[in-house]
Amino acid sequence: MKEGDARDRAIAVVGLGYVGLPLALDLAAAGHEVLGVDASEDRLARLGAGESYIDDVTNDRVAAAVGAGSFRPVAPDVDWTEASAAFICVPTPVTASREPDLGPIRSAGEYVLRGLRAGDLVVLQSTTYPGTTMGPLRELLERGGLTAGTDFGLAFSPERVSPGEGRPSSSIPRLVGGIDEATTRRAAAILEPISPSVTQMTSPDAAELAKLFENVFRNVNIALVNELALICERLGLDVWEVINGASTKPFGFMPFFPGPGVGGHCIPVDPYYLASRAREVGFHERFIETAGDINSRMPEHVISLVMSALNERGKALRGASVLVLGVAFKPDVSDDRNSPAAPIIAGLQASGAEVSYHDPRLPSFDPGASHELPGVGGTPLRSVGLAEGLDARPDCVVIVTAHRDIDWDAVFDRADLIVDTRDASRGRTPRPGQVLRLGAGWS
Ligand SMILES: NC(=O)c1ccc[n+]([C@@H]2O[C@H](COP(=O)([O-])OP(=O)(O)OC[C@H]3O[C@@H](n4cnc5c(N)ncnc54)[C@H](O)[C@@H]3O)[C@@H](O)[C@H]2O)c1
Repeated sequence: MKEGDARDRAIAVVGLGYVGLPLALDLAAAGHEVLGVDASEDRLARLGAGESYIDDVTNDRVAAAVGAGSFRPVAPDVDWTEASAAFICVPTPVTASREPDLGPIRSAGEYVLRGLRAGDLVVLQSTTYPGTTMGPLRELLERGGLTAGTDFGLAFSPERVSPGEGRPSSSIPRLVGGIDEATTRRAAAILEPISPSVTQMTSPDAAELAKLFENVFRNVNIALVNELALICERLGLDVWEVINGASTKPFGFMPFFPGPGVGGHCIPVDPYYLASRAREVGFHERFIETAGDINSRMPEHVISLVMSALNERGKALRGASVLVLGVAFKPDVSDDRNSPAAPIIAGLQASGAEVSYHDPRLPSFDPGASHELPGVGGTPLRSVGLAEGLDARPDCVVIVTAHRDIDWDAVFDRADLIVDTRDASRGRTPRPGQVLRLGAGWS
């Protein structure tokens, strides 16, 4: 057994969402007794009934772990004192003015503090700015009289899970940075059996910044390729062909793809955590602001493509029927947080279009409620069946999220006019004037 295993047989995971639930089940499968703590009664009830609400976690996995007693979902009124290590996996949203909102970390910290004893280990996993673990979280946990590093271990280990891509959490390498080397090794010893590799960093701050940099890197590169798409539209070139061409270079290039905007709980939000921390140390971050600006304008561009497409048919957007395909923020997940579908649908509705949508994974969609960032309104809708949506002969179909389980043959067969923001028409031969592609023009 590795160092720390014997001491950390029982582990608490606080926050059982996209990050915490797979972690809890991986730890349970590795032989730990896991206390899964969540504030949502609904989620606890579903887990207790052996039901998963996370795309990549099967009901069977939950039921087996709950049935075996290796995973015990409980509310925060149950103390975690029977465990010696706690992993915090709660959300890290931003405020209306796009500043970090550490409210969930603080409330999870309060819970952890209640059961904290000498010898325990606390590991933060929520994505956050460098200094959170050693600053606000440490201060909160030390309020009970114990000192981090001396009386209890404190570390940060980011999560890199990417739902919907068929990559199990146990296949993704991890980072960990503790308050001291012994703490880093102890946290790494817990994570090693559930990861292909664990890289030990010299501090929690370095691990926090590494995670933020990964997400900022993605956001900035998506913005770059979104700009390239807009340039290609003006040059009469196909951005998808250009990216595929560039991707043949075996070094120094990695492809990113344009789209209707960025979504999810991470990419649109996390960069503000770095920008805010940079401002605190007197540095004005320009890339993050520019990337956020470009990506957040893509939904408007999609609406302008719909207008152009309708215009070709002599139709106005006002009064046109528009069927949106896919409202999840990315393919093959049922997560609509900050989905670009929200500003697209809200904008189409505000322009007087009659909007319906089809998403096999999301039976209802409330554009305003799905968005953490302010300024998105729109009327809530219920998903129509694909056949029903196509039978209504919409004036335009907009492909926002290309889930694999949408019947694309039916879409391209039956839709008269399509705005394709995801290159879903690749490999097909659309009818002349049928498909207007983002970054490429008419097929
Ligand atoms: N979703 C991803 O793909 C992903 C990937 C990497 C990192 N992250 C980061 O991981 C963190 C968690 O994200 P997520 O997507 O799992 O969030 P989530 O919303 O899916 O899950 C968070 C869970 O925490 C619970 N919760 C909130 N406050 C709580 C509290 N005080 N006590 C107990 N439970 C509480 C909620 O009920 C919810 O079930 C965030 O910082 C996020 O940026 C997410």
